[in-house]
Amino acid sequence: MNDKTYYLTTPIYYVNDIPHIGHAYTTIAGDVMCRYKRMKGYDAFYLTGTDEHGQKIQQTADEKGITPQQLVDEVHQNFRELWGVLNISNDDFIRTTEPRHEIVVQAMFKELMDKGDIYKGTYHGLYCVPCETYVPESNVGEGNTCPDCKRPLTPMQEESYFFKASKYVEALIEHYENNLKGIIPQSRYNEILSFLRSGVRDQSVSRTTLSWGVPIPGDEKHVVYVWFDALINYASAMGYINDRVKFEKYWKEARHLVGKDIIRFHCVIWPLMLLALGITPPVAIIAHGWWTVDGEKMSKSKGNVVDPFKMAEVYGVDPFRYFLLREVPFGNDGDFSERALVGRINSDLANDLGNLLNRTLQMIVNYFEGKVPEVKSDPEITILAVTVLEKIEKHYEEFAFDEVLKTIWAFLGRGNKYIDETMPWKLAKEEPNSEGNMKLAEVLKTLYEILRMSALLISPFMPDTANRLWAQLGLAGDVSKLKIDEQKWDSGGSVAVKKAEVLFPRIDIAKWEESRNIKKKGD
Ligand code: MSP
Repeated sequence: MNDKTYYLTTPIYYVNDIPHIGHAYTTIAGDVMCRYKRMKGYDAFYLTGTDEHGQKIQQTADEKGITPQQLVDEVHQNFRELWGVLNISNDDFIRTTEPRHEIVVQAMFKELMDKGDIYKGTYHGLYCVPCETYVPESNVGEGNTCPDCKRPLTPMQEESYFFKASKYVEALIEHYENNLKGIIPQSRYNEILSFLRSGVRDQSVSRTTLSWGVPIPGDEKHVVYVWFDALINYASAMGYINDRVKFEKYWKEARHLVGKDIIRFHCVIWPLMLLALGITPPVAIIAHGWWTVDGEKMSKSKGNVVDPFKMAEVYGVDPFRYFLLREVPFGNDGDFSERALVGRINSDLANDLGNLLNRTLQMIVNYFEGKVPEVKSDPEITILAVTVLEKIEKHYEEFAFDEVLKTIWAFLGRGNKYIDETMPWKLAKEEPNSEGNMKLAEVLKTLYEILRMSALLISPFMPDTANRLWAQLGLAGDVSKLKIDEQKWDSGGSVAVKKAEVLFPRIDIAKWEESRNIKKKGD
């Protein structure tokens, strides 16, 4: 049995809306991480799913004149379908309307009630319906609006169950003090710690104003508040009740990827719930930034919501995956533009990677009849390869996907430069068995090894491209199933390469602009 386990989750997405690049971003990032971990020999479990209860869903269903059940059954399919298209390797897809989830929500709620950590009271407050949250008085925006979405708040008063969050705050502070990487990046860690130190009020965890939710055991006019319900998915999907072996196996390695807007739920409320239940909080919560589009906030009213299905169709799944993780440091906000995507396809993919492959294979064909020379590669590049692997490992630990890619591309860049430096076409003109002629074999073997290692390293980001690259190198099998550490440097000799095929066709910018009706300056 593999004792190197890893467990990573995405947020579960609301199904009142269709998927956009924000959803695609988190899910691709998690996919890359789990694919890498598997290639490093881990048994990595990747979870995603949909958040299907609550007022937002009920309201959307009402507007459409269908039942919430019909709405969620229909809309959650869009997410499943997108993950198929984007080549996401999730091991499970949890829906909060599934019985396997609901029984865990009820059990946890009951356990906390029995312990006295959930009690009944009355809640008065200003509620934001779209965000499904009460807004504390100190945060209410001008004219009683929501500080996040800026929409008007609704005054509400209701009988409610409360979770004694305050009771576990000290324990949570201590947990974070002992786990300095418990929240990534550091800036978010500091933010959450100072929030915790300022105190956390008991949390309202039930609603009587709607029926679309998990009923509270023994008091069915209440349903469980959607966030209390949703957070539990991370445990219910792992068999918290039905499969304790699985739960114990993965839980100790749990990590959650989240957008910056939902860090308090994940870094404060969820760990407090877990502490109350006697469960260890997750190893880490990793927060990423938000995408704007061409410099503007993405919104339905502006009509600038980027459709990931369309991006994948027009530019290809792998370039889209690559772009999202290369363009912006994880944790920072970023701006999406198709122009930037086209720029990266041409420069990073077609030029840097595509050309190196083409030039190398062409030379192996021209000078060695297509057979990779059986010699050792250049010692200088061999040493570099070791440092590349070490750097990449460190960057992954920090979820610095952009740095991982920069490191791989610097390695490819070294390959391109190595061709310019060694000028194999000159070496090829030297006498057979002369020093220069022997160097030619070393040069081509070195370039071949750079490409072989790069195929392994890009596989988590671009699984199909890695396989195409691998096949052109004359190698068989699915790269994503290989173990990086078993693929020793210089072990890839004695094969016949395939004819070089274009990995990424260059996009003609003039034609691209024309197809988008983008006018040039002065037109
Ligand atoms: N259902 C809750 C999560 C519950 S997890 C127990 C939810 N769903 S959501 O569909 O509204 O958002 C899901 C994720 O998408 C969040 O992490 C959010 O940060 C992310 N994004 C939404 N818009 C985004 C961008 N414009 N850019 C990047 N990520 C964005 O919240």
